[in-house]
Formats: sequence, C-alpha cells, structure tokens
Amino acid sequence: MRDETTVAIIGAGPAGLTLANLLQRSGVDCVVLEMRDRSYVEDRQRAGIIDHHAGRIFEEYGLADRIVGDGPVETLMEIRTEGVPRFLDTPALAGGRPSRLVPQQMLVRRLIAAFLEGGGDLRFGAAGVTLHDLDGPQPRVTYDGGELGAAYLAGCDGFHGVSRRSIPAGALETYSFDHGIGWYTVLADAPPPRYPLMGVSRHGFAAQFARGPHASRFYLQYQPGEDPRSWPDEHAWEQLRLRLGDPRLVAGPITGREIVEMRSFVAEPMDFGRLFLVGDAAHIITPMGAKGMNLALSDAYVLAQGLTDAVLKGDEAGLREYSAVCLRRTWDYQEFSRWYAEMVHQAGDESEPFRRKLALARLDRLFTSPAAATAFADLMAGTD
Ligand code: APR
Repeated sequence: MRDETTVAIIGAGPAGLTLANLLQRSGVDCVVLEMRDRSYVEDRQRAGIIDHHAGRIFEEYGLADRIVGDGPVETLMEIRTEGVPRFLDTPALAGGRPSRLVPQQMLVRRLIAAFLEGGGDLRFGAAGVTLHDLDGPQPRVTYDGGELGAAYLAGCDGFHGVSRRSIPAGALETYSFDHGIGWYTVLADAPPPRYPLMGVSRHGFAAQFARGPHASRFYLQYQPGEDPRSWPDEHAWEQLRLRLGDPRLVAGPITGREIVEMRSFVAEPMDFGRLFLVGDAAHIITPMGAKGMNLALSDAYVLAQGLTDAVLKGDEAGLREYSAVCLRRTWDYQEFSRWYAEMVHQAGDESEPFRRKLALARLDRLFTSPAAATAFADLMAGTD
C-alpha cells in the first residue's frame, strides 16, 4: 500500500509528536510512523521539565492549556553545600519566566490525544522503517506493510533511530563526549523535598526531586568502575543522608533503579537533502539543566515554521536556516549543561583540590553576583 503525505515524521517521542501537532495546527499534512506500540510510548518515564521558552511554543499555537496544562510551576531551587542550604529563585531572576513540571509521559499522552482528535494519522508498530532518496525531489519511506511518499522527512527517532544512520557517512560531522560522571537514580515512595534539591558534598553529588505528592527521585553520583546496582538499599540511604546533609531524611520503598551515564553527542549539520533531524536523533545532552526534551521541542518549533513557510508559501529560507539555528542553541545548552555538571561534581571532589576550589568559587558566584545568577536563570528559562 502506497500513501502520499507532505511531511513523513519518523518517531513519536516528544520531538515527533510536537512537530506533528504544530504542523496539524498550521494546516500542513503529515503522517507519523512509530515503531513501538502506543502504551510503550505513553509509559516511558524520562524528562520532567518544560522550560519557559518551550512552554511558549505551545502558547503560540494555542495548545498551552491542552499540552502544558496547569502542572506545578517551578519556584525556588536549593543547592546544599556540605549541608549548608542556599536558595535561588530562578524564575524571578529570569524576569518572571518559570518552567513547568510536566512528566514526559503526561506530555506524550496529551500530544498523542490532541493529534488524533485533530484527525492526525499516527501509525504505531511501524517496523522496518527505511528511508529512500533523501537528496532527491521525492523522498519516500518504506516499512513493513507500507510505503509513504513525502515532500519532506523529519527524523525524530531518537539517538538509536534509523534516520541519522541513513545519511551517507562523510556528510555528517559528529562530536561525542563522555563526561566521566555516572549517576545511580532511585525512584522511591519517600516524601518529596519542598524545592528541587541538589547536594554538593565531599561524599559525592546527590539530588532529590519530587515525583508526585508522595514520591521522590534521588540521584547519587558513583565512581567510575563501581556498580551501584549492587549497593544494599541501606547504603544508598546512608549516602543520601550524608550528601544531602540531612540525617533525618525519610527512606521509603524503592520502586525503580536506573544508571545514567553522562554523555553528549552532536551531529552537524542537522539536515541532508529533504531529511531534517530533530531532537535526540541529532543530539544528546546530560540531564544537568534539564535541556534534553526542551531542545527537542525547540527543534520541532523551528522545523514546523520552516516547513509551513515552504509548503504554504513556497519559501524555503527557514528550512535552509534550520540546522544553523538549532545548532546554535544546541551548543549553547551543551556548554551550559557541561558547566553546570562540572561545577556541582567538582565542588565536592577532594581528589582535585585546586579544581574543587574553583568549582566552589563558581558556585558561590551564583549566590553573590546578581549578574551571574541572572545569566544562570536565563539559561534555565531557555533561550531563543
Ligand atoms: N522507526 C520508527 N520509530 C522509531 C525508530 C524507527 N527505526 N527508532 C526509534 N523510533 C521511535 C522510538 O520508539 C521513540 O518513540 O522514535 C521515538 C524517539 O523518541 P525519543 O528517544 O524520546 O527522542 P525525542 O523525541 O527526540 O525526545 C528527546 O525527550 O525523553 C526526553 O530528555 C529526553 O532528550 C530526550 C528528549
């Protein structure tokens, strides 16, 4: 069976679904091909913050109530250094631009529902997706049981997807970086902190974030070569109490464990012929600063505008700029995320005393220099 559409979107994660909704709102025809089933996509727990900049995208398209909803607005954040608390009011420092806490599963469910209600064509279980004729005038996609011709292809299929790999070797420059930092993350039925909490400590970095009214997600840095999955739970709780400087921290049943290795990746340019890479397909970033999902949403916005101009007005200028515009923000956020990660991990690392002092000075500056605090808050809110 062969179908035709204007934009074939590969992947129904935050990037693909946002692009699909923005195109639908603009009157540009698209089809989304997703290899997994609906429940897998809807239940995947990953990111949890829509920054102010990304939130405005949904506002501009009249989708804010539907997609962003009325989830809690970010207020203060706490950085506790060797048990000493300090607070930053990042939304106020950014000129009243709060981020919102929206778990990824909720965002994805809302995006799927909105797209389908608007008559969208979203095909789950599309196995064997293969991209053809990327640099010709009529690219197409084949998959088990179907073929889709399109004017443009959007590769929104994540880091391990097929889209980036379909671009001939040599056409992309790739940059990879291993930050040498590992986190053990634990989801527990334990009372959440009042504000997002980061603990800088000579015992290692730790953090605690709310995951609903009765649950917390904890993060514990582990040393290279360690396997924290073999830690007894009591050891994890002891370390959390030490690193968060809270001997009374209440433990609770652990309901999930995960290892996060901090890596970054960028592919340049983010397009080839009529294929455009969006979100994790083009770049991955460390979780520090919570920019991964926001980058994906911002890419989708830039591409939706470029495609709309191309399809409705015959103006491809936006598409030609797509890669450069998105890469500028990508590298800006990569630098921010690296800067942030380095600061909170090195500020506790006694094996490198000079670097530790520098990192502590960097951290202090956030609480003593309004200009430094504002620059930090500006990046937390998201930039154009
Ligand atoms: N064919 C079709 N679909 C595919 C294929 C394929 N060959 N390969 C992957 N997919 C689908 C995946 O099943 C997934 O649903 O593409 C989607 C990619 O979604 P994500 O990996 O979440 O990537 P993206 O949408 O770019 O989201 C990026 O969101 O989870 C946060 O912080 C995280 O940075 C990340 C951001």
